[in-house]
Amino acid sequence: MGFQKPPGTQDFLPGSVEKWQFVESKARDICRRFNFREIRTPMFEMTELYKRGVGETTDIVEKEMYTFTDRGNRSLTLRPEGTAGAVRAYVENKLYGEPDLTKLYYIGPMFRYERQQAGRYRQFHQFGVEALGAVDAALDAEVIALGYTFYSEVGLKDVRVEINSVGTPAVRAAFRERLLGFLEPKRELLCKDCQSRMERNPLRVLDCKTDQAHFEDAPSILDSLDEECRTHFEALQEHLTGMNIPFYINPRLVRGLDYYTHTAFEYKAEGIGAIDTIGGGGRYNGLVADIGGPDQPGVGLGLGLERTVMLLESQGAELDNLHQVDVYMVGLGEAAEREVTRLLHGLRLRGISAERDYQGRKMKAQMKSADRLQARFTAILGDDELSRGEIALKNMATGEQKFVAFEQLADEILK
Ligand code: HAM
Repeated sequence: MGFQKPPGTQDFLPGSVEKWQFVESKARDICRRFNFREIRTPMFEMTELYKRGVGETTDIVEKEMYTFTDRGNRSLTLRPEGTAGAVRAYVENKLYGEPDLTKLYYIGPMFRYERQQAGRYRQFHQFGVEALGAVDAALDAEVIALGYTFYSEVGLKDVRVEINSVGTPAVRAAFRERLLGFLEPKRELLCKDCQSRMERNPLRVLDCKTDQAHFEDAPSILDSLDEECRTHFEALQEHLTGMNIPFYINPRLVRGLDYYTHTAFEYKAEGIGAIDTIGGGGRYNGLVADIGGPDQPGVGLGLGLERTVMLLESQGAELDNLHQVDVYMVGLGEAAEREVTRLLHGLRLRGISAERDYQGRKMKAQMKSADRLQARFTAILGDDELSRGEIALKNMATGEQKFVAFEQLADEILK
């Protein structure tokens, strides 16, 4: 018996990794169009950053972090999410000193010690963006639109945008009291999780899947918003409507991280077992100051890439022909094979993807390889052609075959 990968991790092998490349390249292209620039931060940070940033009483910090002590006796944690690290880098590198907004994006692995289920991993990957330096609701709308555009351009159908306002800390504190007043008489009826959430984070109780029946008359945070929160939330809706982004207001939407203020949102879709949230984010006006930076607001999102790829597969998206070579070259005989080595390299230098056989296989086996690689062309070189300085080039889609001079081969394929 050899080794197995740790629980909750995955190998992405050739054949499926192309789907990841496809999704990632869409993310990068969309960020280019929305003028978000890439940031790469460490895969681990000081543990304290997540305690302060994500919040001491969140599930993430309480029970899901991969925390270890290094040989210098520092407590470090594999990043469970990307916002805290991006904001730490924003502060440490004084990006707030620049005249323009800071619009950042990242794609990479995150780590959470979670119970395994479909769509939930211990190493998973996020595409995230963070926009720092403005309170304008147009920026919240832009971030939501960016995520929506990502899902639609990778080809996902039926993605639902849900938005809410979670107010300011003061608004939340007042709402918390109202909500506890409502929940207290029902305490015994609620599930264990909700009972313990009532102590730590009552707003999350309303998010519970099993207890919804008890919450029909629950107070709504939207009725507790102050003037500023209400104005922001209304402006957000106007911007989304202006961009033709369909959305639903879900007053019970609460995110699992503590840093949100005003806007909170999620993207939802059916099709991955019990999980329906595929991405989410929101505004965090206090976070930069909380981790020791200046008083700068921010808004961002994180989209789970495993969930994106899984949904694409379950929706039957056409993602199978993402790896193809342009030409498969076959040399018949020693002299021809030597010439193939030279021609093949020449094609590759011209930007053409090209492959050949290295195992001394018969022509028929080589043609099967060409099939498996979905080669657009095969190029076959025998002694006769070699002596004329030509190669037989066959277009696999049309079946058309012609002899092409060596010097013309790349041009012919690029045509
Ligand atoms: P989050 O809701 O914790 O937000 O995670 C965002 C997305 O990451 C989820 O919607 C899900 O798709 C994916 N995800 C989370 N945990 C797992 C897991 N164990 N396995 C697979 N996928 C998972 C954040 O992380 C915030 N940093 C988002 C944000 C950025 N807010 C503002 N800026």
